[in-house]
Amino acid sequence: MNKNPSNKPITVRTTPSLALIKYWGKAETQENIPATSSLAVNLDGLFTETTVSLSDDADAVTINGELVPPDRYSKFFDRIRKTLGTDSAFHAESHSNFPVSAGLASSSSGFAALAFGCCKLIDEHLDQEIVSDLARYGSASAARATLGGFTTLKKGARFAEKIFDKNHWPELRVLIAIVKQTAKKTSSREAMELARTTSPYYNTWVKSSEDIFQNAIDACRNKDLEKLGQLMRISYLGMFSTMFTSTPPIYYWEPESIQLIKKCDALRKNGIGAWETMDAGPQVKILCLEEDLKNIINSLKAEFDQLKFMLSRPGGGPEILS
Ligand code: DP6
Repeated sequence: MNKNPSNKPITVRTTPSLALIKYWGKAETQENIPATSSLAVNLDGLFTETTVSLSDDADAVTINGELVPPDRYSKFFDRIRKTLGTDSAFHAESHSNFPVSAGLASSSSGFAALAFGCCKLIDEHLDQEIVSDLARYGSASAARATLGGFTTLKKGARFAEKIFDKNHWPELRVLIAIVKQTAKKTSSREAMELARTTSPYYNTWVKSSEDIFQNAIDACRNKDLEKLGQLMRISYLGMFSTMFTSTPPIYYWEPESIQLIKKCDALRKNGIGAWETMDAGPQVKILCLEEDLKNIINSLKAEFDQLKFMLSRPGGGPEILS
């Protein structure tokens, strides 16, 4: 039943969810249930804005003006309709202020904005857990993005939880080095399925990630960047190990990615806390404290003057703009 009788189009702005400890692999493929527990933070300053409206014809989604093939969305919209008890089709127009499908978590902000917008359009008072569950069905990382701040999505879970508010760690900064702007050839969904079905290291990855996750929550609670950084590194390198050992192997890295990893290592050896992580793409995200930021930016800009950098900090959940 429609509990928002005005049915006016809604525009939502959502920030993406950067995994510090990675979700990589599905416990259940059809339902999109994660096999590993992830810990993440929403990234302020990067955003997806989506306008959602009801329609009498077919579902349609555009991203930055381009129509998206319906197969990526049809099951998601069917689930939305079933949960919200409506027959309506949805139209959505989405724009992001950062490169999409390039390993910058655009599917997290994309599906979070979409799920949030569709829910608000039909029923303004829906539980947060339902919104997160619907977003997860579209893209598991999106379940986290619907909350903002520091979040977890546990293995086997249907919805994410917020563990700390965005103001929990005010000194934390995230510097994003954009190594390549173009969309990747293999989606994270395909790559993690390939890892699950072909990598001999996949089960070890899944088993080992639980301890890393628990310890990372403590590090985050205690605002211990060195501890968190070490755990982040084990997590992202473990995730990539399953990609390098898949058949065929998946290589998202570019030469600049490895140069940036080495640069972070060199900075740390000089006592500057620059802790990198990467996702399904060549971009490198560097966590640091405000006090080290200037040093890190100057040092990176001197060596990587051809790269674009974006600066972020912990961000909030979805906002309705109109
Ligand atoms: C490397 O959430 O995009 O960013 O659920 O299949 O849509 P689907 O995957 P997606 O994968 C995110 C993978 C990651 C790690 C993370 O965000 O936890």
